Amino acid sequence: MNIEAKIAQSLTVTPRGGTFAAEITGVTLADRLNDDGLFAELRALLTDHLVLFLPGQHLSAEAMCTLASRFGELNILDPSDPRRDAQFPSLGRFITPVPGKNTHNYSDMWHADFTYQRVPEAIAMFQLVETPRRGGDTLWSNQYAAFEALSHPIKELARTLTGVHVFKGLGDTSAKPIEHPIVCRHPHSGREHLYVTSGYLTHIPQLRRKESMVLLDYLREISAQPEFTVRRSHRPGDVVIWDNRCTLHYGAHDYDPHDRRELWRIGALDNLPIAAAFPERIAPHFDFSAVTARLV
Ligand SMILES: [Fe+2]
Repeated sequence: MNIEAKIAQSLTVTPRGGTFAAEITGVTLADRLNDDGLFAELRALLTDHLVLFLPGQHLSAEAMCTLASRFGELNILDPSDPRRDAQFPSLGRFITPVPGKNTHNYSDMWHADFTYQRVPEAIAMFQLVETPRRGGDTLWSNQYAAFEALSHPIKELARTLTGVHVFKGLGDTSAKPIEHPIVCRHPHSGREHLYVTSGYLTHIPQLRRKESMVLLDYLREISAQPEFTVRRSHRPGDVVIWDNRCTLHYGAHDYDPHDRRELWRIGALDNLPIAAAFPERIAPHFDFSAVTARLV
């Protein structure tokens, strides 16, 4: 029996959602951060299940960085981000409440992280350090399933379109818009998935303004359809790793704002661009500014 087969036997994989997500037990990550066979197995599990729940890990901040680096180059947070850790610039510490400050982190919308980057994070993960007394679950949705749910003509239309993503959350109104396809082909699975978020995505530049609004409303509804989602409650020490391309997530803000909550978050790039499923079908850009001028 080879080493990888032994490792596969040591992990217990329990599916958790209707269409995706699995709980992984039988491994203490902190003891095996240098175990190449384990990470080959975890990467394969992530491709198959999209979201992995690893309860009770209690990793240090340094171990979180090592863990994330096993999946790709660490994504360095903007120096102006108040959540950026002083020692580990890829690690964000989301701690609430902060007396006298609005610490709402706007995670209560369906989104993927950093889609306003030219190369968004491929993999993201967090660990709960402290949890509120109740509430504070996280939900994920399966964007392969969302795409599959579309009718053939809408799939064909969506394959020809891009979305404009922009971030103004830290007060930078000069943030550069970035375009990504509305339908992408995942670099590891080869499967098509929707890439439509409620955060950051502003419009579809190939369409007229009203068309863009109506189509995005519909695609956003499909992307968060309850049948394609999984919901997870957290305990201190729980780690979640997810594919940040073919899933969206939503942080439920239903907990007492006076309860202390601490979450460490980190993400990794694999330097593969978000690729259109059929790049040759992306329609030439419609002149959006000309449409806007006519509407005024
Ligand atoms: Fe997020």
